[in-house]
Amino acid sequence: MEKRRIILVPFPAQGHVTPFIQLGHALSLKGFSITVVQGGSNQVSHIPGFQFVTIPESLPVSQLKTLGPVEFLTKLNKTIEASFKDCISQLLLQHDNDIPCIIYDELMYVSEATAKEFKLPSVIFSTVSATTRVCGCLLSNLNAEIDMEDPEVQDKVMDDLHPITYKHLPTSGMGPLDRYLELCKEIFNRGTASGIILNTARCLESSSLSWLQQELGIPLYPLGPLHITASTNSSLLEEDMSCIEWLNKQKSGSVIYISLGSKAHMEAKEVMEMAWGLCDSNHPFLWVISKSVPEEVSKIVSEKGYIVKWAPQDQVLGHPAVGGFWSHCGWNSTLESIVEGVPMICRPFGDEQKLNAKYIESVWRIGIRLEGEVERGQVKRMVKGLIVDDEGADMRDRSIGFREKLKASMRVEGSSYNALDELVKFLETS
Ligand code: UDX
Repeated sequence: MEKRRIILVPFPAQGHVTPFIQLGHALSLKGFSITVVQGGSNQVSHIPGFQFVTIPESLPVSQLKTLGPVEFLTKLNKTIEASFKDCISQLLLQHDNDIPCIIYDELMYVSEATAKEFKLPSVIFSTVSATTRVCGCLLSNLNAEIDMEDPEVQDKVMDDLHPITYKHLPTSGMGPLDRYLELCKEIFNRGTASGIILNTARCLESSSLSWLQQELGIPLYPLGPLHITASTNSSLLEEDMSCIEWLNKQKSGSVIYISLGSKAHMEAKEVMEMAWGLCDSNHPFLWVISKSVPEEVSKIVSEKGYIVKWAPQDQVLGHPAVGGFWSHCGWNSTLESIVEGVPMICRPFGDEQKLNAKYIESVWRIGIRLEGEVERGQVKRMVKGLIVDDEGADMRDRSIGFREKLKASMRVEGSSYNALDELVKFLETS
């Protein structure tokens, strides 16, 4: 008998494609066939056993920078509408209408209307944290008249979300507030979706999950962190494996790993201060810099540091030599760090990274935030604090505590294991 086929619709960026491919892998282990429908650039196509379909009319992700997030998402969803419909209609023909569900990234919200038109059940996959999802819902109800720059507003604690205040909300860099809030309404209005999958676990975000459950009233499937059980290489860039050989030569727990995401914009001065501070700390460091590195920086780091354009991050974080992670706090990086019990230096840039950083620093207490201008003395102190001081050791212990809880949640009868089981039951019977 042919396996039931699930359609996955990821948003074409690494931080979204990765958890989607992991989810596909988890579902294929449960006996489903997987079709990934993707548009734009940033396509992955090398997963054995998966079917990949390209939406012909799409928008290159490079336009995200020029248009800004709000315009880009609005235009992307409009542009793909007709050809996405064609793709689904062809897939239904190809697979004798036996497609029990479309699982789509909430940023690809046009999928919902298409699923409805073809009378297909749909499930949202929110690839960010549950707390970010809560903020999305709160933002979609916010009055556009609010002055987000007002210091009083900024320090106001969000109802039900202590210690998150308005300044942690993912509004900066989004353009005019009224347009952004309109888009939030579009994205976070669940419409006819039958449930929401989240790449998180109850032991990390139980109160946000309860909030969502109460507010949305549809099944939630917090089945993460997916990479623990469904790890698969979905890297959009080539990984430089030479850094593993370099790590093999370093002492246990001595290395600081730095990866600040592809969107981080750093002035040359800031990069220099980082380089000097890292060198002055006297700890070896592995630094992901995807752009070409200025010669001055190469010279400074050549003794203690190792630079790569793209690292096999999960292997790096799991390497015994790594003692700390300086991160932009993207949600996948955050989960990957916690799962390896590695404490963090948080340097959030955009999107919802400030929110994740606040949780890392103040809720889970497994990291410290580097705020304001980067200055070499402060970098040196923070690296030392993380790698050698008692403060860092306490953070590491707490992080290891979460790691154990997360692993338990993935085992038989654990909360994430059960959530995946419930999702599978839904997909088998829908
Ligand atoms: C984006 C948003 O920026 C982020 O705020 C949101 O939480 C998720 O979507 P991104 O910036 O790509 O994510 O960061 P992150 O979520 O951390 O994902 C990056 C992925 O790339 C991770 O899985 C990480 O392991 C991988 N990576 C990164 C590598 O494999 N090698 C590297 O050198 C750097």
